Amino acid sequence: MLITKRNYSEALADNALDQDFADSSLGNQRRLMVVGVLLTLILGILFFVWHAQAADPYVQGVLALEADSDRGHEIFQMNCAVCHGIEANGEVGPSLLGVSARKSKVKLIQQVVSGNTPPMPQFQPEPKDMADLLGYLEQL
Ligand code: HEC
Repeated sequence: MLITKRNYSEALADNALDQDFADSSLGNQRRLMVVGVLLTLILGILFFVWHAQAADPYVQGVLALEADSDRGHEIFQMNCAVCHGIEANGEVGPSLLGVSARKSKVKLIQQVVSGNTPPMPQFQPEPKDMADLLGYLEQL
């Protein structure tokens, strides 16, 4: 094709448009990549925390034991009933009826041993006591 002055400047303009398009799609690709990397990082951290909690030797020890929920009930009445009520239906602390539908076994153990939610104190039960307590909590 014969390049006239007019279509030369049009070609230049077209080229500039193509360049803009290429730049913006490169920008989008970069943005997508950053989002992808961030998501992977966040998921990785969540998995790590979950895994670290579940792999905790104390938690594993408790989960390996057989629970005696009657004994768990007694332990509950001595240590927890002041706040959660004699039948776990709530006082100062929330009712624990159906709590195992809201919290996994690992989360329930964490709740008792972590002391992360004051005024609930941090408890340090022997694994067998914790297993029995867990058995009781799970049948509420
Ligand atoms: C000094 C009062 C107190 C004592 C004693 C206590 N708790 Fe709590 N507990 C609380 C309070 C307050 C909360 C709510 C904490 C929050 O989420 O902010 C709570 C929360 C909980 C939860 C989570 C409830 C939910 O709906 O997620 C569980 C499970 C629990 N306690 C179990 C126990 C067990 C088992 C014991 C005995 C070993 C115990 N607590 C002793 C005050 C107490």
